[in-house]
Amino acid sequence: MEENPLRFGLDLQDEPDPFTIVIFGATGNLTRHRLIPALWSLFSRKFISDFRVIGFARRPWTDEVFRNTAAEHLAPAPFGGDDRKAEFLSRLEYLAASFDDPAGYDKLAERLAGGQPVVFYLSTPPESYPVIVKLLGDKGLARGRRRIIVEKPFGRDLDSARELNATLLGRFAEPQIYRIDHYLGKETVQNLMVLRFGNSTFEPVWNSRYVHHVEITMAETVGVEGRGNYYERAGAIRDILQNHLLQLLSLVAMEPPSSLEPEAVRNEKVKVLKSIRAPGPAASGVPSLDGVPSSDGVFLRGQYASGTVGGEAVPGYCEEPGVAADSPVETYAAVRLFLDTWRWSGVPFFLRAGKRLARRLTEIAVHFKRPPLDLFGVFRSRPQPNVLVWRIQPDEGMRFTFNSKIPGFLPRLTPVQMRFSYGGAFGETSPDAYERLLLDVIHGDPSLFTRNDEIEASWSYTTRLLRAAEASAPGTLRLYPAGTAGPAEAALLLAPYGVTWRRL
Ligand code: BG6
Repeated sequence: MEENPLRFGLDLQDEPDPFTIVIFGATGNLTRHRLIPALWSLFSRKFISDFRVIGFARRPWTDEVFRNTAAEHLAPAPFGGDDRKAEFLSRLEYLAASFDDPAGYDKLAERLAGGQPVVFYLSTPPESYPVIVKLLGDKGLARGRRRIIVEKPFGRDLDSARELNATLLGRFAEPQIYRIDHYLGKETVQNLMVLRFGNSTFEPVWNSRYVHHVEITMAETVGVEGRGNYYERAGAIRDILQNHLLQLLSLVAMEPPSSLEPEAVRNEKVKVLKSIRAPGPAASGVPSLDGVPSSDGVFLRGQYASGTVGGEAVPGYCEEPGVAADSPVETYAAVRLFLDTWRWSGVPFFLRAGKRLARRLTEIAVHFKRPPLDLFGVFRSRPQPNVLVWRIQPDEGMRFTFNSKIPGFLPRLTPVQMRFSYGGAFGETSPDAYERLLLDVIHGDPSLFTRNDEIEASWSYTTRLLRAAEASAPGTLRLYPAGTAGPAEAALLLAPYGVTWRRL
């Protein structure tokens, strides 16, 4: 194969066999903004060449409308320009049918005749997943070289996730099922395993003996971006905590796997999720966190009110289209949790996610304990705790904060930083998460997808939070002005440990 400088170092020897990808929900945002651009990028960089895309959705579109809509979202081609674009678009077809109409699946079966590998992508409102899966099964479309990608949210709670798993496993075998969490496709997230297990220096201190606490933040400046209807049924706990944040947690806290085989890695991740201590009775986002034992898991929910983001006045969540004027749905969630494992016993993990916050930032901060003996206290210069910050986005990279002597006659200390930046080290942009994950499915590699027991373990914890939230008094949903760091009360989760959230 010709040398391709844009292959991001991927060493996939062979072109995949000709395949078809069927996107259920082809008229939606995800298809337009993420899936089509990802497929185009794979095609324009020559990772895939022989394929068809069938967009399946209710709207009475034609092939032409589907292609024109897709054309608006294609980045400039790295090679070949407009000819390549035209070739890509000619591979897109549209099939107008309701998700629950068996006749639509008969038409689909006709188009799929011939036994080619097929990837089904469920990118519809989640309520439609069961009927699609059932009809694919009934029409014999789940047999053979078929794979199915299931977008989040995977269920609404533990029971519905179990039900969805059962529906899927009734028609498809587990190795055919790819439960997607696009965070796992991010380069910086994959690099976490390399940081931990490809180096010998971090792992010996990665435990309760040295780590004081761990913070995981996923802050966004955007609001619900026109997805009010979806968000009203989700909220930050279902939209972000149950999946992206818990995936990051499991990668930070897992034991070293015995190999990089998908099952070996997933076995370790699921152990972390199963070890999350059940939140205590006070974990209901109570108005005051006084009296909550500091060893208990606890959480807090917030919702953005109107405010200013990036110099622009923005409406509050309840004024967004599709949102109830008195909506009780959270756009911010923060939790304190504990893992009952030998390695992490007693170490608090603080996780937070929110929309319309002061800045866009996803990072993991591992805060180490202070040195056991305060040698420098006599000079009124106390060492600050070391902090390792893994920045997932933007400005991908790592910072390690440690203490240095200030030049002078006295041993005075000040924190300084060592920095690694992806851009500086590698100078190229990384592949988009969806690109990476789609290619993995096409090649049949499930490593970066979530297994059924992983999903159920993450819902088991999240469902407890949701139940506690439902039972909590209305005043426990804290309003915060858009463009700020979130509800001020979130500081109370950390207060018993004498620490604060990192500044946003
Ligand atoms: C999605 C959520 O899974 O992740 C969105 O549904 C959120 O609400 C998005 O905005 C954030 O993804 P990223 O890659 O921009 O951090």
